[in-house]
Amino acid sequence: MPHVEVLQRARGRLRAALNHPSFSSSSLGQKRMRFIVIAAVVLSFILFSFHSHRSESSVGRYRIQAPFRPESQTAESVRLQRRTAVKSAFQHAWTGYKQKAWLHDELLPVSGGYKDPFVGWAATLVDSLDTLWIMGFKDEFDGALEAIEQINFSKPNAERVPAFEVTIRYLGGLLGAWDISGHRVETGKIASENGVVLAQIGSLSLEFIRLSQVTGDAKYADAIQKITDQLAQTQNNCKGERLSFSSRDFTLGAFADSLYEYLPKTHLILPSFSSAAQQYLEMYRIALPSFSKHLFFRPSLPGEPDILYSGNANANSGSARLDTQIQHLSCFVGGMVGLGAKISNSPTELETAINLTNGCVWAYENTPSGIMPEIFHVEQCADLSSCTWKGQGDGFTRVDDRSYQLRPEAIESVFVMYRRTGDPSWQEKGWRMFEAIEKHSRTDIAHARLDDVMDPTPGKTDSMESFWLAETLKYFYLLFSEPDLVSLDEYVLNTEAHPFRRGA
Ligand SMILES: *[C@@H]1O[C@H](CO)[C@@H](O)[C@H](O)[C@H]1NC(C)=O
Ligand SMILES: *[C@@H]1O[C@H](CO)[C@@H](O)[C@H](O)[C@H]1NC(C)=O
Repeated sequence: MPHVEVLQRARGRLRAALNHPSFSSSSLGQKRMRFIVIAAVVLSFILFSFHSHRSESSVGRYRIQAPFRPESQTAESVRLQRRTAVKSAFQHAWTGYKQKAWLHDELLPVSGGYKDPFVGWAATLVDSLDTLWIMGFKDEFDGALEAIEQINFSKPNAERVPAFEVTIRYLGGLLGAWDISGHRVETGKIASENGVVLAQIGSLSLEFIRLSQVTGDAKYADAIQKITDQLAQTQNNCKGERLSFSSRDFTLGAFADSLYEYLPKTHLILPSFSSAAQQYLEMYRIALPSFSKHLFFRPSLPGEPDILYSGNANANSGSARLDTQIQHLSCFVGGMVGLGAKISNSPTELETAINLTNGCVWAYENTPSGIMPEIFHVEQCADLSSCTWKGQGDGFTRVDDRSYQLRPEAIESVFVMYRRTGDPSWQEKGWRMFEAIEKHSRTDIAHARLDDVMDPTPGKTDSMESFWLAETLKYFYLLFSEPDLVSLDEYVLNTEAHPFRRGA
């Protein structure tokens, strides 16, 4: 079977298993056992003393970041002004959360209400911990840690536990807070549980490998190793076969989030000598050429920019056919390819990463609001090297979803490109994005989703997901910070932007 499809299917199965009612809401006994697994993992971090000494300095073997030149005084003062603006935006939204939705999952930024879509364990609070630390809100950080002690992680306030979201937000949030604040674990806090259930939620290699590193207990890493071995074996068996798509669509947007992203990232967090590190790298090297061939394309647009997008591959006709649909969610791809390019030491891959990231920047800069839509279509160039724009209009042939949901993926890739290349033009691009988002999304209470970015003054929707504070504003802040703050030479960021320390 074609390997990308196999990976996609395996991923789909994992997801289906996680969301299956039998995982989420079966008999009370089983349910309790599952909760205990997640709860034990999360709870153990609450029990860690957040009061011990600063951590080891571990600079990984790859230098991901470019050498940065000293900046002029003018450049520094502009940068710091921008950083202050980002920090104020965070403070505004955090204060709104504190006043109106404290200990709930999400604030409703227009009405001032709240909701609990992630089992009610204060998702925004846990997700924001490391951002508070990074931005220097140390008192708020301490207050948030105290408040967490009121959360009962054995008692999900919902029928279904979305394991993927719980892992990346709660476990990722606590691991990131632990790593970035430089504290050590009291080991031996994690009780032994059911390995099968662990394996089910173990598709999240980065979180569970870091958990093993931090606790000194190999069982979390062992559980996900079984899944990885299966994926790798299937992938190897189909080497050289043509990619085809018999029954489903293939995309790096919705529903494919962390599997591919985590291949280079998991490679980076593992010790260089381990065979697992090599395994993740090989899987990435097999996957990337398929992405290049079947998903990445140059769009035909006014001004003929030399940029790339990651589209979808369509199933229906038997062979792979490109659907030139762009999702905001897929904008993480530039950053992923940028990290991989360093591991592979490939200037060509870096160029691809830059052009992919510029694709998302283009989509911000060419809408009436200055913000990229959630989903849209463009025309494809006949070939990569020359592409003459003969169309009419703005280049967006169809805007399938006109909203902006406070998503981070575009600024994530801009941030990675900045740290990878040291090129200050990425800061300019990021600043224009920030200005547009702040201007349109700010409410009296916090920041809100936008309903139509193709309108010069979009309306607001009553929603602010926790990733606005955990990811989007963190990436903006880091873009205008000194490059050694959360250096990519020392940290890998999980799919919710939580920084995990890299292995040596
Ligand atoms: C947490 O919830 C569990 C399950 O409902 C309950 O048994 C336990 O007593 C609660 N713990 C606290 C400290 O309230
Ligand atoms: C990327 O863009 C540059 C121009 O900025 C162009 O020369 C190059 O061919 C492009 N590469 C790819 C792979 O799109």
